[in-house]
Amino acid sequence: MIIVNSLSKEFGKGKKRQKVVDNLSLHILPGEVFGFLGPNGAGKSTTIKLLLGFLKPDDGAMRVRDKLVGQDEYRNFIGYLPEFPFFYTHLTARETLYLSGRLSGMGRKYIRKRSDQLLGELDLSHAANKKVGGFSKGMKQRLGVVNSLLHDPEILIFDEPMSGLDPLGRYLIKELIVKLKESGKTIFFSSHILSDIEELCDRIAVVHRGRLLYAGNIGGFEIKEGQNLESRFIEIIKEATDAVVV
Ligand SMILES: Nc1ncnc2c1ncn2[C@@H]1O[C@H](COP(=O)(O)OP(=O)(O)OP(=O)(O)O)[C@@H](O)[C@H]1O
Ligand SMILES: [Mg+2]
Repeated sequence: MIIVNSLSKEFGKGKKRQKVVDNLSLHILPGEVFGFLGPNGAGKSTTIKLLLGFLKPDDGAMRVRDKLVGQDEYRNFIGYLPEFPFFYTHLTARETLYLSGRLSGMGRKYIRKRSDQLLGELDLSHAANKKVGGFSKGMKQRLGVVNSLLHDPEILIFDEPMSGLDPLGRYLIKELIVKLKESGKTIFFSSHILSDIEELCDRIAVVHRGRLLYAGNIGGFEIKEGQNLESRFIEIIKEATDAVVV
């Protein structure tokens, strides 16, 4: 469903040049929940932005469904939650969704119906007519998720969907991801909350300094007795960091 093939991206010039995505390949299958892991600065958001076509790669190719990223129109299939969702502060939640729906060619009645349903699912109905400028971080995050789902896309790409959420919000997002999977959607998301990743994901990829350290199911991640995904993750990142220093 999503193919990332030998992707590379550098930022900066001269001495400040930094390879942020380094020959990265990923293959996300239709209908799976795929977790994207890595420490801060590993290149997760950059990879996601490359996949959405917001940045241009230096090397490599990406496909979404049968479309080539950068050449074909493919974003209609995708619902995207950015790491830092941006909203116009003077619009209400409903107006925000209306604007977004109209921009993606949806009909008025359908937008209204779908907005109300999704605002309900994300426990935001009470704030539907409130200005987004007055929203808390978690409320903005929930609205970002609603926004990504509005056009009922086949593929969901979420950059840290649980960030800033209270336990109920996290629970709602987890439930939502399970429901989306049950309805046949493909979900690719990054997160630092490894217990959530463990609960939800069919497969994971771990990146470190732009390089892939592991891709596969959690069972194959060599989690030893007495370890969980988190302690194994810390171990593999430490090993990789030491290997780079030496
Ligand atoms: N536009 C940019 N210009 C220069 N450097 C950038 C830019 N965007 C990201 N970087 C650098 O690329 C590296 C990877 O950043 P990225 O945001 O992809 O990491 P991440 O894995 O998403 O981290 P986090 O878990 O903190 O969100 C970082 O060192 C960051 O400083
Ligand atoms: Mg990030």
